[in-house]
Amino acid sequence: MSNNVLVLGSFVADVAFRMTRLPAWGETLMGETFALGPGGKGSNQAVAAARALAGSNVKVQFMSRVGDDAFGTLARDTWKAAGIDASLVTTCTAATGAAAILIDAAKGENAIIVVPGACFTLTPAEVDAAAAEIGAASVFLTQLELPLDTVERGLQIARNAGVPTILNPAPAPATPLPASLIALADYLTPNETEAALLTGMPVETVEQAKLAAAALLASGARNVILTLGARGALVATSDGRMTVVPAFDAGPVLETTGAGDAFCGGFATALAEGQPLLDAVRFGCATAGISVTRAGTAPSMPHRHEIDKLLTRIV
Ligand code: RIB
Repeated sequence: MSNNVLVLGSFVADVAFRMTRLPAWGETLMGETFALGPGGKGSNQAVAAARALAGSNVKVQFMSRVGDDAFGTLARDTWKAAGIDASLVTTCTAATGAAAILIDAAKGENAIIVVPGACFTLTPAEVDAAAAEIGAASVFLTQLELPLDTVERGLQIARNAGVPTILNPAPAPATPLPASLIALADYLTPNETEAALLTGMPVETVEQAKLAAAALLASGARNVILTLGARGALVATSDGRMTVVPAFDAGPVLETTGAGDAFCGGFATALAEGQPLLDAVRFGCATAGISVTRAGTAPSMPHRHEIDKLLTRIV
């Protein structure tokens, strides 16, 4: 028997620059390195899920849209190499989007501007047309780099079909998310910044994260997994339990871009395999822990044997 993780989301090309500091307006700054590679939160999460599943009985399907251009070809080559079923990806006349990623060479932290491009033309009606595939999935995973009504339709179809839903509310919304959307999340996976924006509450300490997670549960999410970077992830369930799953130290941090995507992809695969919630979160943390030791977003996603090795490491 085969289980599916179905990811509805974005693809964009990542154009990444490493630098010692951000340039000021009007300034030209010499950077350290430059890289062009596959990105977009949806596609990154699909790649993370696909690489995490080797040897398991799970398959990954991706639904999106790309342009008929070089970045669209980069997308399709990426999915083919990862073994992702891209039969729900369409091609349109709009250009594939891109993200400018500025990486702090010392800390590995990033600042990103994303223009979603072609994938942002995906409509709710087109998601309706994939209702059979969504309804047959074991886990449905989506993010906020597509139009909100398109994301919401995917979540509604999955919820109506009894498919567990993961909503990664990234990038952080500029306006409050509709409660109707949050209520469609079986698992809401914000990072600290996103949780602060969603709740209007500060999220710097673990205690503050617990308060924000409680507020998100009260908004209708069934479970909240609030990722805490190097501190791991806070798991808040509707029965009021709050558990911090520690992060994994897989080596020196090179770049944190895509760490949230690594977590979501690994977590989705583990859930589709039937792992209990805390084990699935641990699996997601291990996936993210390896990804931050590598450059790039999709290219930094670890393979299953690497995740298993980290999970069984004796410290
Ligand atoms: O989460 C990281 C991703 O966000 C990057 O790959 C970039 O494309 C942006 O969408």
